[in-house]
Amino acid sequence: MDDWKPLFTQQEIQSRIKQLAKKITGDYKDKDFIAICVLKGAFLFFGDLIRLIDLPVTVDFIIASSYIKNQSSGHIQIDYQMKEVLTNKDVLIIEDIVDTGLTLKYIIETIAEQKPKSLKVCALLDKKERRQVKVNLDYVGFDVPDLFVVGYGMDYENQFRNIPYIAVVDDAVKHLKHCNDNVR
Ligand code: PRP
Repeated sequence: MDDWKPLFTQQEIQSRIKQLAKKITGDYKDKDFIAICVLKGAFLFFGDLIRLIDLPVTVDFIIASSYIKNQSSGHIQIDYQMKEVLTNKDVLIIEDIVDTGLTLKYIIETIAEQKPKSLKVCALLDKKERRQVKVNLDYVGFDVPDLFVVGYGMDYENQFRNIPYIAVVDDAVKHLKHCNDNVR
């Protein structure tokens, strides 16, 4: 994987996360703060971000998926639902990427039913060009063009989540094909 060309390097990702964590730390001082990790994709971003947020924070998780192969299906499947009571809490949803916006819209609507005191969103990547529904992102790491990206939690057919930087899928698939050809 050493020869892949990163779209965002580890250093770029970590330095942007530091800035986001500083802003969030300021904004959530004296609040009843709950951070929700949208799995699976956000697991690394979430772990790195909350460790740099210098505040007491309750964490919870939701497992949501909408992608089949490399296409957004538009149907949101929930495999694990949050357990914390979110009523009157200051809730921050943490996503790896917002593409069509359908997953996030669904999660926002689900959480809103519990009447939190505030509800904001932090996404590492914003792929605005692909948006189908309007969703408000309060904190964004980077804007990305309409390319299929993998790494740093994001997958292609459930692989490549462990790459420590973010790369474009064409490169990743070529690499996988190359590895498979070598073992045959
Ligand atoms: C990805 C990503 C977001 C969602 C964004 O999840 O983590 O949750 O897609 O796409 P959307 O804006 O078009 O809804 P995915 O469905 O791939 O599941 P995963 O997190 O388990 O990889």
